Amino acid sequence: MKKFLVESQRLQIRRADLADLPYILNLQVKPENLKFIVPFDENFHTNILTSDGTEKIDVIIEERETSKPVGYFMLSELDNPHNKVEFTQGIIDKKGYGYGRELFKLLLKWSFDVKNYNRVFLDCKTYNEVAIHLYESLGFKREGILREHILTNGVYEDLILFGMLKNEYLDKT
Ligand SMILES: CC(C)(COP(=O)(O)OP(=O)(O)OC[C@H]1O[C@@H](n2cnc3c(N)ncnc32)[C@H](O)[C@@H]1OP(=O)(O)O)[C@@H](O)C(=O)NCCC(=O)NCCS
Repeated sequence: MKKFLVESQRLQIRRADLADLPYILNLQVKPENLKFIVPFDENFHTNILTSDGTEKIDVIIEERETSKPVGYFMLSELDNPHNKVEFTQGIIDKKGYGYGRELFKLLLKWSFDVKNYNRVFLDCKTYNEVAIHLYESLGFKREGILREHILTNGVYEDLILFGMLKNEYLDKT
């Protein structure tokens, strides 16, 4: 039986396994996603999927009604002494249904209520308006700009660093 990290009304999220690798690789390179994320290669994901999951996990988001995948993301820095977690590569394939908002609410609940992390952080390209709107409306704070942090097709790009602390989450809920 599948074990879920956390569930909401419409979504359930579970650790990905090797059978999910083609789904993840395909999702990363869809043009509507690729322009906003940094893709990882097959070896990188295979290492995560076959690891003991203490440091990083790939995660599949499923629709509860159909059990079909509607997206993927990665949780990083799970095993650190500073009680923080990084959300990486959040991708919703079935866009515009409110799944992104529902997913991030679920992830915040899991991070702060279930796992008792003190800090959640993520980064985002400066022109990713949908994601920026989503993160700010959920209460993430802009913590700075990582200047020319990534090289995309020969162009250095800035990233916005977003973070939320447990006390800010508790104040909001
Ligand atoms: C960013 C992403 C995860 C959001 O997921 P989603 O399910 O499409 O988003 P939702 O339907 O929950 O909408 C979230 C908000 O964005 C707004 N939004 C959604 N699509 C939009 C669009 N095309 N233009 C403007 N606003 C949009 C929604 O209105 C909603 O805001 P509201 O609740 O205040 O009305 C998804 O679009 C995605 O996978 N994008 C490509 C990869 C990516 O950018 N990942 C994030 C990397 S930092």
